Amino acid sequence: MSTFQLDTSTSRAHPTPAPMRRLTVPAIRKRKQDGVTAEPIVMLTAYTARQAQLLDAHCDLLLVGDSLGQVIYGLPSSVPVTLEMMAAHGAAVVRGSYHAAVLVDMPFGAYEQSPEQAFASASRLLKETGCAGVKLEGGTAMAETVAFLVNRGIPVMGHVGLTPQAVNVLGGYNARGRSEAEAAKIVADAQALAEAGAFAIVAEGVVEPIAIEVTKAVPCPVIGIGASAQCDGQVLVTEDMLGMFERVPRFVKRYGEIAETISAAAARYAEEVRARSFPGPDQTYQPK
Ligand code: KIV
Repeated sequence: MSTFQLDTSTSRAHPTPAPMRRLTVPAIRKRKQDGVTAEPIVMLTAYTARQAQLLDAHCDLLLVGDSLGQVIYGLPSSVPVTLEMMAAHGAAVVRGSYHAAVLVDMPFGAYEQSPEQAFASASRLLKETGCAGVKLEGGTAMAETVAFLVNRGIPVMGHVGLTPQAVNVLGGYNARGRSEAEAAKIVADAQALAEAGAFAIVAEGVVEPIAIEVTKAVPCPVIGIGASAQCDGQVLVTEDMLGMFERVPRFVKRYGEIAETISAAAARYAEEVRARSFPGPDQTYQPK
């Protein structure tokens, strides 16, 4: 493995999380039995080691989402995100977590060409990050690729409905499934992925009745985002739910106001530097 382990003697986190037994993909898949998920699956995105440390104990799945393009890199969409970015952030999240299963998104352009291209990209992500599996976007068109990966030892999570990598085809980020044809396609896409062996499927930005239909239509867990509380689990972009951004999709609930906390701390720091009151006696070294 080319990844480093967290060094407990140099880690800035205190206390460094104690290693726990990590959840596996088969354990997550088994949470849905005969169409019922007694305990909903909790998933959040994570992009850094420290973020993973803080989220790990609360989540079943940590997703290193290609949303990092917008959230971390300030890109206009996830389209420019590269395999190198996903590998670097994936390795950091695996280092920072001990409990949740970590999945890494396959970025646009790294899997659509052929099952072989997808296998090369996915196996690289597994080798370089230590993640438990990958997520890829697309339904029926990706079923052959999903089967190819799963049959060769790579767990795959599917992603249907609003698929952000297809923004240039979809024309925006609006909710999907409002027309009969669109709704039928979303259900058929999910069924094709499940039959191909996907262990779970994200349903994003899907009108609620269709999200419920998809959840009932497939045997594997369906993780909703902008979908329905009736899904088998939920995912959000962590920075969105923490209140890092002013503009978020309407399906996001803000569980924190971290942007205000950061701004206020930076303002106090700036004031103290300008007033020469920082650093003070507690933060300076004096000769003995
Ligand atoms: O990239 C991402 O963060 C995602 C989730 C929003 C499901 O795909």
